[in-house]
Amino acid sequence: MSTLAIEGMQWGDEGKGKLTDYFASRAEVVVRSQGGNNAGHSIVRDGKRYALRLLPSGIFNENVINVLADGMVINPMALIEEINGLKEQGVTKFNLLISNRASMLLPYHIAIDHAREKMLGNAKIGTTGRGIGPCYEDKAARLGLRMGDLLDLKQLDERLSSELAIKNAELKAYGAEPVSKEEIMKGLMEVRDYLVPHITDTSLFLQKCIKENKKVLFEGAQGAMLCLTHGTYPYVTSSSPLATAIPVNTGLPLTAVNAVLGVMKAYTTRVGEGPFPTELHDEIGDQIREKGHEYGTVTKRPRRVGWLDLAVLKYVKNISGITHVGLMLLDVLGGLDEIKVCTGYKINGETIDYMPCDVSTYTKVEPIYKTLPGWKEDISNILNYEDLPENAKNYVREIEKALEVNVSMVSVGPDHSQTIIREELFRD
Ligand code: GDP
Ligand code: IMO
Ligand code: MG
Repeated sequence: MSTLAIEGMQWGDEGKGKLTDYFASRAEVVVRSQGGNNAGHSIVRDGKRYALRLLPSGIFNENVINVLADGMVINPMALIEEINGLKEQGVTKFNLLISNRASMLLPYHIAIDHAREKMLGNAKIGTTGRGIGPCYEDKAARLGLRMGDLLDLKQLDERLSSELAIKNAELKAYGAEPVSKEEIMKGLMEVRDYLVPHITDTSLFLQKCIKENKKVLFEGAQGAMLCLTHGTYPYVTSSSPLATAIPVNTGLPLTAVNAVLGVMKAYTTRVGEGPFPTELHDEIGDQIREKGHEYGTVTKRPRRVGWLDLAVLKYVKNISGITHVGLMLLDVLGGLDEIKVCTGYKINGETIDYMPCDVSTYTKVEPIYKTLPGWKEDISNILNYEDLPENAKNYVREIEKALEVNVSMVSVGPDHSQTIIREELFRD
């Protein structure tokens, strides 16, 4: 296979960054195609931790071209801040292409995100507060600016003026402060010189790569259950993290994605509001949160923690066409006497094994659990699958049986090296 997509199968934070970084050394191109700096991808290399938000996780490989593609929402100031932060951590080369079609996320999107969450009160989404929803709204409304607008100052000025006439009226309606065009232009002028040489038609570039059989890795952001259409609406993000959305978000044909590696944690986490049937509100939940360091990369919020939900994973496999699975953070479950997995739900006396569309129904489902024996050993230094404790292998088999997909890799720690390979993917 010359292309591989990496998709989060739960509510985000499954370890996509670690796996993308793992495969990036074999890739020629790494592409982010949706979302923005709501994503937080942690990577640990040689004991050093990096947090990526907008940049693809191929950035540590000097020979890889990293692409921020058409379907992304990009805050230019945040991008520069991220690049500067990485420079301070010793990253020197930024082989980066930015789509001229990607939406430009500006300060008023952030202000609207905050104002709206405040107005929603108890019904808030629990967004990352990075302006993601309001920026995608502007794109759908055909109002918003695109990264290509940075290339033409006159056009940039005109588009920003007409956009702000509407956005400041909206902010006023929320009782929030208007934003100043001069300040936004000043901020953009500070970053423009650096960004302009990187802005291009990435769709044309990627089409050429596919034609030349280049090795292209697509790095998903968020997770399938946060999909705007197929997730737990309205408690979702404003793009589709599904691999099936990659073609339209990159300007590539359907056939451009050869395989889809679904990434899942060995348990479940969620940040923000919304239904979570297997959520744990007890000591086991706290124990998993602490052992897995389950605190948000972007907002530092404690992540909600729960048992693995096979009904969610089956649902996601079916809507995404997952061909392989990467099982992450298996080490975190070590030490538990027993581990539960949810195999389906009970609702109104009926048993179902899929996610109901309506969020108020989904909030009421009662999970059906199967209890599996745990293991006591520390597995974080194991590199051969056969050396895992029998009960850990049994856990993996249970997942494979339910999903009818092979678990191709098992991650037993945050570091690049703590990865068990069962099936070589993305090799020549
Ligand atoms: P992403 O958003 O999908 O890239 O995931 P995040 O980086 O937000 O969250 C995953 C967290 O788990 C990060 O802190 C990783 O360093 C960490 N991590 C990844 N794989 C493993 C693993 O196998 N074991 C442990 N203990 N931590 C891991
Ligand atoms: P990565 O790529 C986990 C969640 C937010 C909130 C909802 C909407 O690191 O897996 P938004 O700011 O997108 O409008 O927030 O989506 N969310 C994430 N949760 N990981 C992410 O990204 C997320 N990106 C957004 O917490 O519930
Ligand atoms: Mg994350």
